[in-house]
Amino acid sequence: MGFEMSRLVQGFWRLENWGMTKDELLDFTKFCLENGIDTFDHADVYGAYTAEKLFGDAISLEKGIREKMKLVTKCGIKFPSGKFPDLKVKIYDTGKEHIVKSVEDSLKNFCTDYIDLLLIHRPDPFMDADETAEAFVELKKAGKVLNFGVSNFLPIQFDLLQSRLDFELVTNQVEISAMELVNFDNGTLDHCQMKRVAPMAWSPLAGGRIFTEQSERADRMRETMKEISAELGDVAADQLMYAFLLNHPSKIIPVMGSGKKERVVSALKALDIKLSKEQWFKIWVSSKGKKVD
Ligand SMILES: NC(=O)c1ccc[n+]([C@@H]2O[C@H](COP(=O)([O-])OP(=O)(O)OC[C@H]3O[C@@H](n4cnc5c(N)ncnc54)[C@H](OP(=O)(O)O)[C@@H]3O)[C@@H](O)[C@H]2O)c1
Repeated sequence: MGFEMSRLVQGFWRLENWGMTKDELLDFTKFCLENGIDTFDHADVYGAYTAEKLFGDAISLEKGIREKMKLVTKCGIKFPSGKFPDLKVKIYDTGKEHIVKSVEDSLKNFCTDYIDLLLIHRPDPFMDADETAEAFVELKKAGKVLNFGVSNFLPIQFDLLQSRLDFELVTNQVEISAMELVNFDNGTLDHCQMKRVAPMAWSPLAGGRIFTEQSERADRMRETMKEISAELGDVAADQLMYAFLLNHPSKIIPVMGSGKKERVVSALKALDIKLSKEQWFKIWVSSKGKKVD
């Protein structure tokens, strides 16, 4: 059996802004698990390299909880900071030494001995695919990382790395939302469908812009959502944003970004929303600002 994530994933990029105590973070995590969200998305770099440890400290409070979840983390971005004191500019590093060291650090931060899924955070113009693959093979052999994937990769970049591996990459995590359609248009989602790889969608609510942006486009989209909501019977805008992704045939997995339980409760309702093709295209057209040809 391949690697399976929950249909919704909880992300922790904004964790340091949530201002949670360890107990509150543990409580939020348990709430997600109780509601069937068992996959948690992190990156070494979140919170300026602090978020993984905040999470690890919280889950360490409850024995046995780690085994109930799938931990996703990313590596490959280095920026000048306490962690990299000699660095003067932000760089990508997908070399073997860095990947292995980054995983060792993530394991310590999470207080665990395995990562369920490791992603290369961003395509690295200096990537030596043989070397990156060598790191993956070593980490897999050691049982330190069970599955691998990429993030923000173009299909050709995905294929390059895949060509050096004798196991399958399991995802490409990219920005996808009703407000950010580029990956529908540039072949990324087609490529995922071709490979039968479920893409993960970051910023599925456009980072909250759908609720706050003051623009003609955002107003138009909110108006369209209201119309569809009336057709479906009082469905909230966030639920329609999720449904737009969940209904897509490439089996997009939204990665949610809020730390509020009520947002999670609302998102869960989107799992039951069936959009007609016409409703899906109404959202598409309103986002693009033009009819399909
Ligand atoms: N691979 C990558 O390069 C990459 C890049 C970015 C993010 N990510 C991953 O994707 C995850 C999600 O990204 P994201 O945080 O941008 O996702 P998002 O869910 O699109 O945006 C979250 C933001 O939307 C706001 N929001 C949610 N529901 C709302 C509502 N009903 N009304 C008003 N505001 C609402 C939240 O505010 P509240 O806090 O008030 O709810 C929060 O500020 C991250 O945690 C991270 O795991 C990956």
